[in-house]
Amino acid sequence: NKVVLAYSGGLDTSVIVPWLRENYGCEVVCFTADVGQGAMEMEGLERKAKASGASQLVVKDLKEEFVKDYIFPCLRAGAVYERKYLLGTSMARPVIAKAMVDVAREVGADAVSHGCTGKGNDQVRFELTFFALNPELKVVAPWREWEITGREDAVEYAKKHNIPVAVSKKSIYSRDRNLWHLSHEGDILEDPANEPKKDMYMMTDDPEEAPNQPEYVEIGINSGVPVSVNGKELSPASLLTELNELGRKHGIGRIDMVENRLVGMKSRGVYETPGGTILWAGVRELESLTLDRETMQVKDMLALKYAELVYAGRWFDPLRQSMDAFMEEITKTTTGSVTLKLYKGSVNVASRKSPYSLYREDISSFENGLIYNQADAAGFIRLYGLPMKVRAMLEKGI
Ligand code: ARG
Ligand code: SIN
Repeated sequence: NKVVLAYSGGLDTSVIVPWLRENYGCEVVCFTADVGQGAMEMEGLERKAKASGASQLVVKDLKEEFVKDYIFPCLRAGAVYERKYLLGTSMARPVIAKAMVDVAREVGADAVSHGCTGKGNDQVRFELTFFALNPELKVVAPWREWEITGREDAVEYAKKHNIPVAVSKKSIYSRDRNLWHLSHEGDILEDPANEPKKDMYMMTDDPEEAPNQPEYVEIGINSGVPVSVNGKELSPASLLTELNELGRKHGIGRIDMVENRLVGMKSRGVYETPGGTILWAGVRELESLTLDRETMQVKDMLALKYAELVYAGRWFDPLRQSMDAFMEEITKTTTGSVTLKLYKGSVNVASRKSPYSLYREDISSFENGLIYNQADAAGFIRLYGLPMKVRAMLEKGI
């Protein structure tokens, strides 16, 4: 009788440890995934977990796996939810939940648990991943069961169970951070009419105070996936880390939106995705050279559905996996480099090059070439426009 708990070290998950022991009489193994949430959040976790009553803390560094197997496929697919959201939290849940399934097997646990509320998307993402990877695991979601309703309650519960809770002032926002993004929800943001406060942001400097000099960055891309920055080849996680720093400096990637949660309600969120926004611009720009009109259109249509599946926690759904095979095939020639100009929150393309470019200056140039014969256009237009002509003739009784 053992449970693996997704553990962050915060107040909520600290209280879940004694609660699980009390209500389920089980041994609690805490699990923390390093997905790039930062050293501060990773500090002193083992001590804290044990002080809460956990038998052990398992930590796994998932940064490279997260970027390579979750972020890059979404980037290659061009997945964006409701026109704006680059899916930072949505992509992180399945990689964490998958690792929990592995840990459960390693320590011989028969159950898993998480600290997501019953009102959000995250509970769905965790649990769908558990279902897909090990349908036999029992799932415990304390927020949907217990009487604890707020911070005061939780502190009270901790005191009663002699659990030391850090008295550090908790942020007023609900935040989720990883290597790709940082999300802010709650407090004054709950009114969509309120502009976010300047001091809320953590991954990006204020674009209004960013350098007055623009900066160029060259992204190397291989088959739809970024491989280098300014000519330097980097591992997926270090590439993203480097672009996050650049993006931070120039205030890139702040998004403020109202989104439709899977559970039906609307919610307002603010996201910071500095490196991701740069990468997004780069990959999309390269496709303007390498994809023809119809291919791009079909890809974009599928990207919409792909994003929805990722948002809804269906990472391990064969539908997403099959769509990924399509994305992989269709981006085989999305190879080359794009130079972007970063300036006070904006990313603009300065240059794009690809050995597979479908753009041919000898055809497209306003100078006359040999392949394209302007006289051909006359017949093309007559046939292409025939239906319009026939309709107009009908209306005018010709
Ligand atoms: N609304 C975003 C999403 O559904 C962010 C969720 C943030 N999660 C959190 N536990 N703070 O992906
Ligand atoms: C939560 O409810 O745990 C956070 C918000 C979300 O999952 O959408």
